[in-house]
Amino acid sequence: DEAERTDRIETALAELGDDVVILGHNYQRREIVEHADFVGDSYQLSKEAAEADAEYVIFGGVTFMAESADIITDDEQTVILPSMEASCPMAGMAEALQVDAAWAEITDAAPDANIIPITYMNSYADLKAFCASQGGLVCTSSNAHRAFEWAFDRGDKVLFLPDKHLGENTAHRLGMEDAIAEWDPWDPEGKDATEVAESDIILWDGYCQVHERFREEHIEQVRADDPDANVIVHPECRREVVEAADVAGSTATICDTVANAEPGETWAIGTEIHLTRHLQRWHPEVNVLPLCGDACMDCNAMRQIDPNYLTWVLEELVASRERNVIEVAPDEKELAQVALDRMLEI
Ligand code: 13P
Ligand code: SF4
Repeated sequence: DEAERTDRIETALAELGDDVVILGHNYQRREIVEHADFVGDSYQLSKEAAEADAEYVIFGGVTFMAESADIITDDEQTVILPSMEASCPMAGMAEALQVDAAWAEITDAAPDANIIPITYMNSYADLKAFCASQGGLVCTSSNAHRAFEWAFDRGDKVLFLPDKHLGENTAHRLGMEDAIAEWDPWDPEGKDATEVAESDIILWDGYCQVHERFREEHIEQVRADDPDANVIVHPECRREVVEAADVAGSTATICDTVANAEPGETWAIGTEIHLTRHLQRWHPEVNVLPLCGDACMDCNAMRQIDPNYLTWVLEELVASRERNVIEVAPDEKELAQVALDRMLEI
């Protein structure tokens, strides 16, 4: 049961002492974040990983986040993901080989253009390395607009991967909504590279299966139930949802907005359900609601990090066995680090 498991986790942590730090993404369930030394979004956690001294970084999150932690931490540090099944479907929508092929087509169609690739943090290390090798960088939802500005200072077009919704919402934020084209890698017949390459912003056709499910109707329903309700959504949501919301912001912005709300205010949250539940617990004075009832918007990749697996990896470390180590290949690591460093600099 939970009490016994908590006891076992605490015993293992006491044994391991400063050798271990646990990072918990905001979308992890309560039984994980309660044991985390740091809770935050992917950007905050990448900074915590960079500053961690511990020999072992246990990542409560998904594979691409653990890879980023491995890239950022020292070579002597080991990153452990409690479940190897925790893979973000959106990151899997932009495979490096697929991107190589698309890049060849698009750059052939626009030989005189200087196209800068930007990948969202939610991507695998090989794609981050590819972006660095072509003069590009990584961004998160909190700095995507700055990454676009960085790219347009250096080139004349952007290829943004893998999240088309974040890309489109960022283009709107910068007043560049008329300059967008989409690249659907699964439809080789249905696109014309020459036409796509005429646009300044080319969006890879990937999306988050959690945020993509929010609809304007969910916002209408919340407002019908309570005309004073405020709605905040993550920029991985569809354009029309972001437009209908009162505020769109990264995970960190959502947390800050609720933390700074006046007592009694109502905020409906359009993001992964676990974050909404944490906000309800952390800020009982604010009326925090899930935008779409209680049942949906659960990330099945994040959910793979079961607290029993956390117990297992910790107890194995006590027994001097390293399980589920995430290690990025050295050549990829070096280049991906360049792409991440460019982000940390902006
Ligand atoms: P952030 O942590 O960057 O807000 O990303 C949201 C997300 O979907 C993480 O998987
Ligand atoms: Fe991937 Fe979306 Fe889940 Fe984040 S919430 S891990 S982007 S599927």
